[in-house]
Amino acid sequence: MNYLDYIESRRAENLSELKEFLRIPSVSTKSEHKPDIERAARWVADRLRDAGFPQAEIIPTKMHPLVYAESLHAPGKPTILFYGHYDVQPPDPLNLWTSPPFEPTERGGNLYGRGTADDKGQVHIHLKALAALKNAEGKFPVNVKVIIEGEEEVGSVNLWDFVINNKNRLKADALVVSDTSMLARGVPSITYGLRGLNYYQVEITGAAQDLHSGVFGGAVPNPITILAETIARLHDKNFRVTVPGFYDDVAALSARERKALNSLPWKESTFRKTVGAPALCGEKGFTTVERLWTRPTLELNGIWGGYTDEGSKTVIPAKAFAKISTRLVPNQEPAKIAKLVERHIRKLLPKTVHCKFDLLSTGKPWVAAYTHPIFQKAIHALNKGFGKKAVFIREGGSIPFVTQMHDTFNVPCVLMGFGLPDENAHAPDEHISLDNYYGGIKSVAVFYSSLAQI
Ligand code: BES
Ligand code: MN
Ligand code: MN
Repeated sequence: MNYLDYIESRRAENLSELKEFLRIPSVSTKSEHKPDIERAARWVADRLRDAGFPQAEIIPTKMHPLVYAESLHAPGKPTILFYGHYDVQPPDPLNLWTSPPFEPTERGGNLYGRGTADDKGQVHIHLKALAALKNAEGKFPVNVKVIIEGEEEVGSVNLWDFVINNKNRLKADALVVSDTSMLARGVPSITYGLRGLNYYQVEITGAAQDLHSGVFGGAVPNPITILAETIARLHDKNFRVTVPGFYDDVAALSARERKALNSLPWKESTFRKTVGAPALCGEKGFTTVERLWTRPTLELNGIWGGYTDEGSKTVIPAKAFAKISTRLVPNQEPAKIAKLVERHIRKLLPKTVHCKFDLLSTGKPWVAAYTHPIFQKAIHALNKGFGKKAVFIREGGSIPFVTQMHDTFNVPCVLMGFGLPDENAHAPDEHISLDNYYGGIKSVAVFYSSLAQI
């Protein structure tokens, strides 16, 4: 049986195995899920062993383990490094899920559950494509290295140590990643740009302890008011970030790229529907696609403080907090931007409060040429799986590892994503299209197979 027939014959088995993976609540940001993280790492290592990597190993890090495997039995053939992550974002708010997040459920041609699209479903696509090649053909067509980490959703903090200490071991001719989305249903896409991400936490302290708002109100600083005022001043009326120097290093878009990005088969009306807000907004002078993929932003991710429980409580809180992030684009330097943001916030704050400013994680932006012949192989493979020619897109999300690998090894990075823009990644009712899951396995198998000749 050839590998494509083999994949066809395994549809039901593959899907039920994916559900097993999705039932493990491997939430990397919550320490209560540590045992689940470890179970997920073991599950991945076991499946890699099934797929033809008998030496798959679980490598501990300062936080969550990563899984590494390699098969170097194709002398003279290229070496491909596949990267993915087995950790997921928290499923909250739970009451907004139609079916429970860790009980994968099929509905309307989709599979629902946390991690279906980001990224367990997409990792599983590669595991099953590789298993099919091995089982149907007896061996892999190329040399394959696989790294599947458990800290992507918390910034890949400890992954970099592993990469630096294993530079030779990780050497490859290309990096392959499936952790992105297609431009639209039925439009296979190759992502050649991602934004970077700095994540900050701000803690504003006024009084030494919470105070009765009647006894003290009117004569003492209120950190929530002060934080709200400060945050309100971080954008101007044209949605530009007011941090001095924020845009200084932003690379201008060439006329050619601007034209290419704006003429992709992408509809603003579909995007608006997916968003579901009464209207869209963004930086003046740029189209929505440009705002999402090519412009830096500053976003509030969370703001809290004081009393938020049932009923009322008259209190002037001692503290107020905010989680803020900046998405970065070439050629912004994350460390420099962090300094500028901190300096600006401190400058805006009155002398009545203290401010603690922490940089929680940082990741560089990535944009690369797609002229290497491997991209033609990717187009060909996606055509086999989806019957359509792939488009080249940039995306607004961040995958710190891609930039790190590209900077360190200067190899082509092929990002073939099988998610969709309305997949609800990080949100309730996350799902993957079953057509994309099955088409993905086929495409990826064709892709690996075609790489024997580059
Ligand atoms: N898979 C996403 C990144 C992504 C999503 C890229 C959609 C392109 C399109 C990844 O798991 C993710 O969520 N990354 C985080 C960054 C991380 C440092 C927490 C992000 O982009 O917020
Ligand atoms: Mn992801
Ligand atoms: Mn994610």
